[in-house]
Amino acid sequence: MMEGLPFAFALLLPSWAVATSWRGAGYRSRPRCGVATRPCGKNTVRGAAALSVALRASILNKEDGGVALQKKKELGDEAQVPHDVEQQKLATQKIAASLRGRILDMYVQFLSEDGSAVDYKALRNSLEFRDYQVVAQQLRDVQPQLLNRTERIAFFLNVYNALIIHGLAILDSPPSNLLQRLLFYAKNAYVIGGIEYSLNDIEHGVLRGNKPGPVPFSGKPFKSGDPRLWTSITESPDARIHFALNCGAKSCPPVRCFNADNLDYALEGAAQSFVTDEENVRLDQDRQGFVYLSSIFKWYRVDFCPENDTSDRALLSTIISYIDAESRDPDAKRLRAQLVELVESGQNVRCKFLPYNWSLNSA
Ligand SMILES: *[C@@H]1O[C@H](CO)[C@@H](O)[C@H](O)[C@H]1NC(C)=O
Ligand SMILES: *[C@@H]1O[C@H](CO)[C@@H](O)[C@H](O)[C@H]1NC(C)=O
Ligand SMILES: *[C@@H]1O[C@H](CO)[C@@H](O)[C@H](O)[C@H]1NC(C)=O
Repeated sequence: MMEGLPFAFALLLPSWAVATSWRGAGYRSRPRCGVATRPCGKNTVRGAAALSVALRASILNKEDGGVALQKKKELGDEAQVPHDVEQQKLATQKIAASLRGRILDMYVQFLSEDGSAVDYKALRNSLEFRDYQVVAQQLRDVQPQLLNRTERIAFFLNVYNALIIHGLAILDSPPSNLLQRLLFYAKNAYVIGGIEYSLNDIEHGVLRGNKPGPVPFSGKPFKSGDPRLWTSITESPDARIHFALNCGAKSCPPVRCFNADNLDYALEGAAQSFVTDEENVRLDQDRQGFVYLSSIFKWYRVDFCPENDTSDRALLSTIISYIDAESRDPDAKRLRAQLVELVESGQNVRCKFLPYNWSLNSA
C-alpha cells in the first residue's frame, strides 16, 4: 500500500535508523511473547519442532487433507505422520474458528455497522480485546499449510485484519507518515505455527502468492526454502482479497470477518460493493473516456490483469466482471452499462487514480 519514491529512501535507511524510528512510532514496551512483533526464543524452538513435522506432512498433503489419508495406506510405516497431520489439521481448524469467534465479538462491539470505522480507544481496554489476545497467542500452534485453499484464505484475511486492529489499538499514536506506515506493515507480526508473519508477509507472501509488494525495489517476501512458502496461495491467487484487506485507513475496504463456508460469496460481495462505491470507481463527468479509480488498482494492477495484458482496458474489464450483470441495484447496473459501453466503444480509455486517504479509520 505504498506510493512512489519516498519508499526508495525508506528502504535505503540503515537498520539502526529504522529501529529508532520504530521505537519512536509508539510501541512502548515489548508485547507479550508470541503476539505482535518478535517471537520469543522459547516459542520459536517449540514451533520449529512442530513445524518440521508439519512440513514433512505437507509434502504428503499438498492438495488437501484427503491426500494425506490416502498416502497413509501407501506408506505403511509412515502411518504415524498422516495421523498426526489429521490431528493437527483439526486443531488448526479449531483455533481458526475460535479466533473468528473472538474477532466477531470485538467487531460487534467496536466496529461501525458498515465496517468502515473502529473505536480503537474503547477496544484497547476491553474484555473482548483481552479475550482475543489470549486466543491470538494460540496462533503459535496452528499449521495453516494443512488448511485447504479456501480455509487458508479466510484464515489469513481474518488474521491480517485483526493484526492491523491489534497493532493500531496498542500504539499510542498511529502511523502518521509514509515511513511510519512502512514500518507498521513490516514490523507488526504474529508468530503463526512457530514462524513470524508480518502484515506484509501475509498480504504479499501468502495471499498474493509471494509477489513483490508495491514499494519500489521490493522482492518476493519469501525466498526459496522459506517454510512459509507452504502457506502461500501460489496457484492463481484471488485478486478479490484486495477488497477484503483493511489496512486501517479511511480509503481501505471495510473490515469484515470471513468464513471458509461462504468465502467466494463474501468476496464477490466485497468486490461489487467496493467497485460500485463512487469513492473507488467513477466515470468523469464529461465522459472523455477517463475513469477514476482507487489507488489500489494502481498498486496492484498486475493482480487485476492476470493475462499479462496490463492495459487500462483490461483493468476496466476486470472491474466490470466484479459487477453482477443481474444486479438489482440501479446504480450498480448503470455503472456497469457505462463501463461496458466505454470498453467496447473503441474509444481511447484512460484510467486515473484517486489519492488514497490514509487517515486512521477510527470512530
Ligand atoms: C475446504 O474446507 C471447507 C470447510 O472447512 C469445505 O467446505 C470445502 O469444501 C473444502 N474445499 C475443498 C476444495 O476441499
Ligand atoms: C506472462 O508473462 C510471463 C513473463 O513475462 C510469461 O512467463 C508468461 O508465460 C505470460 N503468460 C501469458 C498467459 O502470456
Ligand atoms: C480523509 O478522511 C478524513 C476523515 O474522514 C477527512 O477528515 C479528510 O478530509 C480526508 N482527507 C482527504 C484528503 O480527503
